[in-house]
Amino acid sequence: MRRNTVLRKREKYLSKLPSLVGKVCVVTGGTGSLARNLILNLLFLGARVYFTYRNESKAKKLLEELSKFSSNLFAFPLDLSVKEEVFSFLKRLPERIDFFFHVAGTYHRPLERTKDGYERTYQTDFLSILWIDEELLMNHPETRIIHTGSVSMYYSKVDFKDPMSLHCAKTIRYGRDKRLLALYVLALKRRYPVRSFVLAHPGVSATSLFQSEKGGFGKAFETFLVPLMKVIFMKPWKASLSLLLGAFAGDGEKELVAPRGLFHSWGYPKVISLRKSLLESREKEDMERLIAKEKERIVSN
Ligand SMILES: NC(=O)c1ccc[n+]([C@@H]2O[C@H](COP(=O)([O-])OP(=O)(O)OC[C@H]3O[C@@H](n4cnc5c(N)ncnc54)[C@H](OP(=O)(O)O)[C@@H]3O)[C@@H](O)[C@H]2O)c1
Repeated sequence: MRRNTVLRKREKYLSKLPSLVGKVCVVTGGTGSLARNLILNLLFLGARVYFTYRNESKAKKLLEELSKFSSNLFAFPLDLSVKEEVFSFLKRLPERIDFFFHVAGTYHRPLERTKDGYERTYQTDFLSILWIDEELLMNHPETRIIHTGSVSMYYSKVDFKDPMSLHCAKTIRYGRDKRLLALYVLALKRRYPVRSFVLAHPGVSATSLFQSEKGGFGKAFETFLVPLMKVIFMKPWKASLSLLLGAFAGDGEKELVAPRGLFHSWGYPKVISLRKSLLESREKEDMERLIAKEKERIVSN
């Protein structure tokens, strides 16, 4: 699709949304494909945006590129697989945050332990998010928190006896952590009914998540399958709209924001109901115990 057509479609969608002038947003993983598009959308709507990055030269490039559109953009370093960085980031949060978008994430990663002793995907895609949310719950009553989930949450299992099990395959670990994240968001919705929490699934988009340099997929996958995925699946700008819609809708107890099309993989976003298999799952109590255990660990460390 020609660039101007994309811009027109995007602007048409954005022009129907409320203005975010005067609002403060934080976006994690800002240098990623979906987050970069989300940031552009937020700037278009007039927000002040703080994004996090782990690669300084990518962050500089992004700041340079987006400063053409707005001067309301700021960057913070944050590696979610390093506990110390998460806690020092939390000390530097802006005083007021209207929207916090958890977008950073990994996918098909080789098995590794972080220097904090956790399995990498578990710490990056679930545990650090819990640490950040606990801070937002305590000190930022104004913040609406938007979490980037995935429909893989429906097809995955969690072994609560060993939630960061090292004995499962790469994609299974990803699904496990997206399921943990979804169960965590449901627990937050139950516990704090006056606060706003959103779970958003962006659909499928051939982003840099699938790059071989990220460690999981080989060069052959990147050379032959990613170009095909680019043709079949959504462009990142469209996939980012589910995350954006989370700022305005989707915080109901049973709600998910996801693309409206086939298998929730394609299309403009809408608010739908989470499946019963997740809402009525018996894992509720296990999740409560896991949250309590991880919170205890924050206090004791
Ligand atoms: N693309 C899809 O089809 C799809 C489907 C469902 C859900 N999602 C979710 O959407 C989110 C964004 O993914 P994407 O498709 O935009 O992929 P992406 O382009 O690879 O973006 C992922 C972002 O996360 C950052 N990141 C990875 N590990 C990190 C860490 N340890 N600490 C801090 N940041 C870290 C990456 O940083 P660098 O820029 O430095 O690499 C990058 O900015 C992810 O949570 C993903 O699970 C994507």
